[in-house]
Amino acid sequence: MSTLVDFSQPSFWISAASILFNPTFWNIAASQEYHNKVITKLFGGNPRLGCYALAVTIFSLGIFRDYLYSEALAAQPSHPFLEQPPIHLSAIPLFLTGNILVLTSMYALGVTGTYLGDYFGILMDAPVTSFPFNVSAAPMYHGSTLSFLATAIWKGKPAGFVLTALVAAAYSVARRWEDPFTDMIYAKRERERKEGKKGL
Ligand SMILES: *[C@@H]1O[C@H](CO)[C@@H](O)[C@H](O)[C@H]1NC(C)=O
Repeated sequence: MSTLVDFSQPSFWISAASILFNPTFWNIAASQEYHNKVITKLFGGNPRLGCYALAVTIFSLGIFRDYLYSEALAAQPSHPFLEQPPIHLSAIPLFLTGNILVLTSMYALGVTGTYLGDYFGILMDAPVTSFPFNVSAAPMYHGSTLSFLATAIWKGKPAGFVLTALVAAAYSVARRWEDPFTDMIYAKRERERKEGKKGL
């Protein structure tokens, strides 16, 4: 019996490390910004510039992670089950759905909303509830995970499922930090708005 996943490939572990590194990095960066204004200070006291720099960094890390994933899959065995046309082709709607979720949520949130602007004190007027946020609580994460899954299926690599599961786990841990923070920061502003009104 041939192996499903070749764990002896260094590229597999490099991809796994980058999948875990990315959300860890941006949560540490965002928390340093929130508590110590580290990024804002780095950009001459301009939070918007700091947020754009973080956006470019996170975006580039994402591209690099996708590249490492693709390199990792290239070194892995394929499985004939995944190469059957109906399975292979199911990757297309999955990939499209994933990309629609990611791109429409970026469009709805804008750059600062997508890339942790709330940690910089850059808040939206109101939390976004329109599409795709009415179909998924975390469309960016769900969409990204779907794209990883679609790639694994399209390339017929069982190892891709393992790495996709790691992506899902990493995002789920990240959300445990991010969701309560976002709720807290908007609740805080709501209190401040109410107090502001009272003062008038
Ligand atoms: C979400 O919003 C879109 C467009 O605003 C709408 O077409 C769709 O029916 C909504 N979906 C749900 C589940 O509410």
